[in-house]
Amino acid sequence: MIAPPLFAAGNVPKVVLAPMAGVTNAPFRRLCRRYGGGLYVSEMISARAVVEGNEKTMKLTQFADDESPRSLQLAAVDPAVVGEAIGKLIDTERIDHFDLNLGCPVRKVTRNGGGSALPYKRKLLERVLNAAVKAAGGVPVTVKFRVGIDDDHHTYLDTGRIAADAGIAALALHGRTAAQLYSGSADWSTVAALRETVPAELPVYGNGDIWEASDALAMVDQTGCDGVVIGRGCLGRPWLFAHLDAAFTGEPLPTIPRTSEVALLMAEHAKELVAWFGEFKGVREFRKHTAWYLKGYPVGGEIRGKLGQIESLDHLDDLLAQLPDVRLPDENRRVARGHTRGPQVVALPQGWLDDPDDDLVANPEGDSAVSGG
Ligand SMILES: Cc1cc2nc3c(=O)[nH]c(=O)nc-3n(C[C@H](O)[C@H](O)[C@H](O)COP(=O)(O)O)c2cc1C
Repeated sequence: MIAPPLFAAGNVPKVVLAPMAGVTNAPFRRLCRRYGGGLYVSEMISARAVVEGNEKTMKLTQFADDESPRSLQLAAVDPAVVGEAIGKLIDTERIDHFDLNLGCPVRKVTRNGGGSALPYKRKLLERVLNAAVKAAGGVPVTVKFRVGIDDDHHTYLDTGRIAADAGIAALALHGRTAAQLYSGSADWSTVAALRETVPAELPVYGNGDIWEASDALAMVDQTGCDGVVIGRGCLGRPWLFAHLDAAFTGEPLPTIPRTSEVALLMAEHAKELVAWFGEFKGVREFRKHTAWYLKGYPVGGEIRGKLGQIESLDHLDDLLAQLPDVRLPDENRRVARGHTRGPQVVALPQGWLDDPDDDLVANPEGDSAVSGG
């Protein structure tokens, strides 16, 4: 029997790994996939860099041979460019799902009218989404966005309506504004409001501050959303996907791994990164993950410091052999990881807030250098 298309009734994944620049590359996605059934999205990729064939960006668009579905997030400011990038990626990389980044709060993206700045320009947004859906043919296109630019400029309900009209296949909302960055807590009531606003058959995903499987159930329960997108809770914790599967099917949760098991995962992750990127880059990419894997475990500062400076896979193995075998204390299960910064003043193109109906692209060249963060 042929499965319905992704996000159509009967094929709406409950759990989505959030796109995370510098993190959700092919090796990390493979590790997560082993633990549960979900959708695992690539890191953000600049549509313009795809069109230009930028070498570093093209590496990020690659998938392991056995990865299915192939889910890729694009950042774009220009309708023509997003259409061209999608056409090219369907031909060369056989992509099964495109997500458009309408929520990135970082300066180098928003100051060119991209990420969370774009939804403020309703007509331009409509053109970008229409171009993407048209170029994608039958391949589903989803959007991921924030509540708005700041508390005086909420855009999420308009974005939901525009996306529904454009034929977008699903919506994912992070319940913070760009000005909040990662400060405060995600306002899940915005997810509930979005769910009520858009047609019932359009899946809505809730995102923000899901650290444990019980949070995912609470998000669905409190908002009526169709599924969850999880970012920071997965950093150093690919095993969380097994917990999420168990929680959504009413099974008992697996036990949280001890450091002896975490060490095996770390070694494997690092090896996969080296196989994918080569030893020099792979080892450097892995350094930041070492802190996330060991967050909350009582292993001592000295070994953490050394792991953050590993020079080779052998060096990593030596240090992992020195880790004490300890369990995660219950009180540390929710220790935050990843970004916690904010609030900020959002960088916008000159005069951006003057007219939400102006549909000119602010800086057509501006999204070239944003792939992978
Ligand atoms: C290291 C890091 C990189 C991120 N990169 C992206 C990205 O490339 N595209 C995107 O849409 N969001 C990105 N985000 C935001 C996450 O996808 C997610 O929306 C946010 O972290 C809130 O969810 P959480 O509380 O589950 O982490 C990133 C977040 C982190 C921590």
